[in-house]
Amino acid sequence: MHDRYEKIPVQVYPEASEAARRVAAEIADLIQSREDEGRGAVLGLATGSTPIPVYRELIRLHREEGLSFANVTTFNLDEYSGLDADHPESYTRFMQEQLFDHVDIKPSHTNIPNATGSSTEEKERRCAEYEQKIREAGGIDIQLLGIGRSGHIGFNEPGSPVTSSTRVVTLDRITRLDASADFQGFHNVPRTAVTMGVGTILEADKVFLLAWGKGKADVVRIAVEEKETEAVTASFLQRHDNAEFVLDEAAAGDLTRIRYPWLVDSIVWTPRMQQRAISWASGKTEKPILKLVDDDYNESGLGELIAEGENSYSLNIATFNDYQNTVTGWPGGKPGANDETRPEKSDPQPKHAVIFSAEPQDALVSMGATINRLKEQGHLVTLVALTSGNLRVRDQEALKLIRCLQTVEQSKSPEWQIPPHLGEHVGSLAEGDAEAALNPDIRHLKSVILRAEVVDSASALGISESSLKFLGLPFYDSGRFRQFHVTEDDHEQVASVLEELNPNLVFLAGSVADPMSPQGITFQLVAKAITSFPITTDHIWTYRHREEMLKPYEIDMAVPISPVQHELKANALQRLRAVVDLRNDEALGEDRAVARAYDKLGLAEYEAMEVFQRLEVAEL
Ligand code: F6R
Repeated sequence: MHDRYEKIPVQVYPEASEAARRVAAEIADLIQSREDEGRGAVLGLATGSTPIPVYRELIRLHREEGLSFANVTTFNLDEYSGLDADHPESYTRFMQEQLFDHVDIKPSHTNIPNATGSSTEEKERRCAEYEQKIREAGGIDIQLLGIGRSGHIGFNEPGSPVTSSTRVVTLDRITRLDASADFQGFHNVPRTAVTMGVGTILEADKVFLLAWGKGKADVVRIAVEEKETEAVTASFLQRHDNAEFVLDEAAAGDLTRIRYPWLVDSIVWTPRMQQRAISWASGKTEKPILKLVDDDYNESGLGELIAEGENSYSLNIATFNDYQNTVTGWPGGKPGANDETRPEKSDPQPKHAVIFSAEPQDALVSMGATINRLKEQGHLVTLVALTSGNLRVRDQEALKLIRCLQTVEQSKSPEWQIPPHLGEHVGSLAEGDAEAALNPDIRHLKSVILRAEVVDSASALGISESSLKFLGLPFYDSGRFRQFHVTEDDHEQVASVLEELNPNLVFLAGSVADPMSPQGITFQLVAKAITSFPITTDHIWTYRHREEMLKPYEIDMAVPISPVQHELKANALQRLRAVVDLRNDEALGEDRAVARAYDKLGLAEYEAMEVFQRLEVAEL
């Protein structure tokens, strides 16, 4: 039935790892069957976070099941302009580190577009040669794609024609923003790149577009359900007869069949679904919930809800009350109150609230005002920063600190000694050498800076340094964005901190994040540790992290923020200066946007809100 909405075949998997195994198996089958025919296979490859689980599985198949890449030829989709091959963010280096170095592929069989050259003609010639090389190899058998939040495939940004071929392109602002953490700031992200065209991609025999995490859900829906448009080049895959979207549940979350299932099929109405449908009807008709009438239900395809004895009046009231009951100024439960309908139960009081943060600043940004409230209401609050977060700290901050230390040392020696080797990094940091950000000394220094800033920021929310715990999980410090490897050590550290702190109220984020991101990884680690811990999901809350905005019907607890508290939070966030592109205003604006959404449903109008979802048992 969802065919009515979906214009491209879509497979949804509970986990990215399961989806990746299936795609890797198809690639392995192709390689094997080609080998049996005495021919080679041609793969079109992508970079970024998305294909990493597929590459890891291919490496496993090579190591453990003898899959050989000796007869495989690869063509990558794209490459940034102006980066040396060994630049940490070059796609050439990415492919070496993520796949080529670990399998028996012949280096001469791997191809990455290259549009270096002194003149436009020279660049165009190289692009034409790339196209020619693909044709000479017999065309691409399987093409892997990710999707950018701009809707791009490869680097075919909005406006790319469907017939485009390999060429130099200008990157979209959203694409550059999304890469800014990798490049230590927006201004460092290359402005141009070379990419296979949409036309090149459409010529592949089979195309898999993969997407993980809620951040991709909106653009995935547009590509799959809306009309083909140059504004979202992934939508051009609708005209390919062998293209498939392979998604995890979070990335599929905005598809009509998942978000508005009643429009697709007859469904079993759970209270949650009813709440969702009625708030949707309220948005669609632009009426507050309590003003919806039978006709609004019928015209929104919800006639079924009022058919069986129910009428719109009673449904409206029940739904309004459900929303009303999510609003509480007592995130740790209200002592002595009847709490039948309150999100967080009052017992026991006071609570020990443990707030997990993937990177040290995350919890302050997402739930700073709630942290302040918990503390004010007498709860013991501990903030656990699971990773050091140093990858988020700007190089200039490390440089500034070294220069400060040097000045102090010069003026006050011998008491003020700094490790001499720190001075060695001044040159590379000042020149903006991208490798500097990976140096262990610099990373350590940045961890120290971020830690100091978080201590300062938390103090603005009434949280003292003794309530902060910085774990510095090894997966983060030994990896970098898109390239983290979790080990037993990470699991053990998370389990032991839980045991030591023994919380009876837990907040964490990342349940719907990209599973390769620090947030996605730390969520998995905590969720796993918590299963063997005596706490019920009644007392486990997830807070939203960037790009994971909760829709009103997804909210189980909404903590209102007064204008004064909003300013308090703004002040706390201002103290986080070293973090790359933190975009405080956006975070504060999102808090306001949720309050407006509640207001539109006809609920009381607050300045802002921080919102939470109960952790579903299935997520554990
Ligand atoms: C990468 C590429 C891009 C990415 C897309 C998603 O070679 O062509 O289209 O696939 O930007 O990036 P991630 O996977 O990092 O979210």
